[in-house]
Amino acid sequence: MKILSVVGARPNFMKIAPIMDALQAYPQVENLLLHTGQHYDEAMSRVFFEELDLPKPDIYLGIGSGSHAEQTAFVMLAFEKVLLEHHPDIVIVVGDVNSTLACSVTAVKLGVSVAHVEAGLRSYDRQMPEEINRIVTDALSDFLFTTSRQANQNLIREGLDPEKIFFVGNVMIDTLDKHRVRAELLGTPGRLGLQPGQYALMTLHRAANVDDPMVLSRLVDVLYELQTEIPLLFPVHPRTSKRLAEFGLLERLETASQLQIVPPQGYLPFLDLMAHARLVLTDSGGIQEETTILGIPCLTLRQNTERPITVTGGTNTVVGSNPGVILRAARRILSGTHKNGQIPELWDGHAAERLVEILVKHN
Ligand code: UD1
Repeated sequence: MKILSVVGARPNFMKIAPIMDALQAYPQVENLLLHTGQHYDEAMSRVFFEELDLPKPDIYLGIGSGSHAEQTAFVMLAFEKVLLEHHPDIVIVVGDVNSTLACSVTAVKLGVSVAHVEAGLRSYDRQMPEEINRIVTDALSDFLFTTSRQANQNLIREGLDPEKIFFVGNVMIDTLDKHRVRAELLGTPGRLGLQPGQYALMTLHRAANVDDPMVLSRLVDVLYELQTEIPLLFPVHPRTSKRLAEFGLLERLETASQLQIVPPQGYLPFLDLMAHARLVLTDSGGIQEETTILGIPCLTLRQNTERPITVTGGTNTVVGSNPGVILRAARRILSGTHKNGQIPELWDGHAAERLVEILVKHN
C-alpha cells in the first residue's frame, strides 16, 4: 500500500505531522510526503518542518505564489506528473488551501482515492476561497475525516455517502498536545518583553480583512485603540504586511507605543504566545481551535466561522470587523468576563491514530 500525503501552506504542516507519525506503526505502508511549495518562506514553511520533526518532503513542487487559478493550475499540472510516476493508492489532503483542492481534483481524475482530513467544515460563505476549496474537496473524496459531529451532518446534508464519513477528532490538537509542554517552557513572551497573562495577541490574513483598504484601515484602528489598553503583539503574515504597506497604513501603526509588530512566528513560539495571552484576536481557522483547547479567550474577526464548535463549546466569539463591536468584546474579556469552554469530543490527541487505522483497514 502506498500513501502520498500533501502539504502546501502553513496551516497544513501541523495537521500532517501526527499522520506521518501514526503511519510509522504500519511498516507495510509506503509513505511519501509531497510539498506543493504554495508557502515557501523560511518563516511560513521550513521552520515548521524543523519544529514538528516532519520528514524532508520526498517531492517538492515549488509552485509559489500566484492568483487562485494560477496556483491551482500549476499544482495540478505538476501533481499529475507525480501521480503518474508514483502511482499511490491513496492521496491524503488536509484543510482548505488551494493545494488541497488542486491535488484532490487531480488525484480523483486519475482514479486515485482521496482522503480529506478536516472534512465537512462549512462557513456557508462562498466569498471565501477556502469554502470553495472545502466544498469541492469533500465532494470528491473517498474518505471524509471530520473533527466534529456537526461536520458529519454538513456532509450528509450535501448528499455525501455516510459510509465515507469518519468522525475521528482533530489532528491539529494531536500536534498541540504533543508540543504544548515544550512550547510553554520557551519563555517567548518574556523574550519579547511581555508579561505572561498581560498582553493581547493578534493575527490577520484573510482576503476579506486585508485586501480591502477600508476594512483593513478599520482593523488598524482596532489595533491602535486596543494597544492603549493592553500591550499588543501582532505577528504579521506576508500578505498582510504587503497590504499594510500598499495602503499606507504602516505609519499609523508605527506611532502605537504598546504595539509590537513581529514577523510570522514558528509553531512552538506561537503556541507559547497563545498559551500565555490574556486574549487572542484572529481571523485564522486553526487558532480558534487551539485557543479553545488552551482555554484562552478568542475573538474571531470574521462574520462567520466554519468551526462553530469553538463558539458553542469553546472560548471563541465571532465579532466581525466592526471596530466598536470588537473593542467592546475585548474590553469585556479584559474586565474578566469570558467563556471558559470545554474540550470538544475526540480532541484528545489520538485523532491521527484513528484516522490511519481506518485508511489501512479499508485498503
Ligand atoms: C493561504 C490559504 C489560507 C490559509 C493561509 C495561511 C488559500 C486560498 N489560502 O492564504 O486558507 O489560512 O494560507 O497562511 O490557499 N507569501 C509569502 N511567502 C510565503 C507564502 C506566501 O511571501 O511563504 C505571500 C505571497 O506573496 C502571496 C501572499 O503571501 O501573494 C498570500 O499567499 P497565498 O498562499 O496566496 O495565500 P495566503 O493568504 O497565505
